[in-house]
Amino acid sequence: MFSSPLIPALSILIFLPFLFLIAPRILLLTDLQISLSPDELDDVALFHKAILASSSHHHRTSSSSISHLGTTTNPKPKIAFLFLTNSDLAFAPLWEKFFHGHQHLFNIYIHADPTVQITPPGGVFEGRFVPAKKTERASPTLISAARRLLANAILDDPLNLYFALVSQHCIPLHSFPFVYKTLFGSELAALRDFGTQSNHQSFIEILSDDPNLPERYVSRGDNVMLPEVPFEQFRVGSQFYILTKRHSLLVIQDKRLWRKFKLPCLNVYSCYPEEHYFPTLLSMEDPKGCSHYTLTRVNWTDSTDGHPYTYEAPEISAQLVHTLRKSNSSYSYLFARKFSPDCLRPLMKLASRVIFRDSNCVYN
Ligand SMILES: *[C@@H]1O[C@H](CO)[C@@H](O)[C@H](O)[C@H]1NC(C)=O
Ligand SMILES: *[C@@H]1O[C@H](CO)[C@@H](O)[C@H](O)[C@H]1NC(C)=O
Repeated sequence: MFSSPLIPALSILIFLPFLFLIAPRILLLTDLQISLSPDELDDVALFHKAILASSSHHHRTSSSSISHLGTTTNPKPKIAFLFLTNSDLAFAPLWEKFFHGHQHLFNIYIHADPTVQITPPGGVFEGRFVPAKKTERASPTLISAARRLLANAILDDPLNLYFALVSQHCIPLHSFPFVYKTLFGSELAALRDFGTQSNHQSFIEILSDDPNLPERYVSRGDNVMLPEVPFEQFRVGSQFYILTKRHSLLVIQDKRLWRKFKLPCLNVYSCYPEEHYFPTLLSMEDPKGCSHYTLTRVNWTDSTDGHPYTYEAPEISAQLVHTLRKSNSSYSYLFARKFSPDCLRPLMKLASRVIFRDSNCVYN
């Protein structure tokens, strides 16, 4: 009755609606598989765990009894120090002195590039390494490393409420109590805002007037950042910041901007993903909750190849420490970079007398 070519045509017609139903699922699946590397799958699982943990912490900390959080019935918020490094922590002895006597007010987490041989630091740094992956300039790996540090710190201790990202070239410019007080205010205020931190801001540089922005914006190709990141909302800022917990959560929850910032750099000389991702995301999501300046001093005078000025041992003096503390904001700088490893000796000599002495130094 039917001519034979009609049968395949008919069956296609019948099958067509099913194809529309199934195809998007298949596409979605392959899209996921293509865009998520094994490293990224690990990260997604870690971020998910940290987000879940923090929502259960939140329930517990906001209930009337918070005694189960630790052996203490009066828990104090902590600062998580996130060390991002690809070489030895040359200033570990100085940091050790900085942390000494404040055990219950901080935690340390270290992300060290596993492809580099690093001398494991002892003391407060011992056993503080988080599972790490290779990091490289001009790639999104430094963003991933920082997000990994944030997630590990959120997961590890619900009392971590500020997250300070530093590198192996950073040094403290003040005592620990000074840093703590700058971030949390009085202990009373810290306790009152416990959990929500609604009155606290993140200290992150967010700049919109940098002359390099147009070139940086197209470093992954023309228009690839659209529609998630229009040029008008693209920002730059220092890679080193101090984030509140709510912003740290926001960073590890983000998928939208990460989809764009993880794309490979075509122009590796103007890419620097880690200098753009965090400022752009936070300026889009909560500009009023951010300082827009960093509390980590850096000297960009005569910078070469994207690296800031590195101080050498003969330059270290009490005068330099005092100069580096001075800022244009209402806060003193808390940390500074970059210092060559041979600065350790002269810095240790200044530690008690100058760096950790701020009794007569009220902010600025
Ligand atoms: C910044 O670095 C330059 C050298 O590039 C140096 O001359 C200057 O003293 C440094 N500034 C400070 C405040 O240390
Ligand atoms: C403060 O602002 C002045 C004027 O813009 C600038 O020259 C100086 O370098 C700034 N100082 C610091 C520490 O950023």
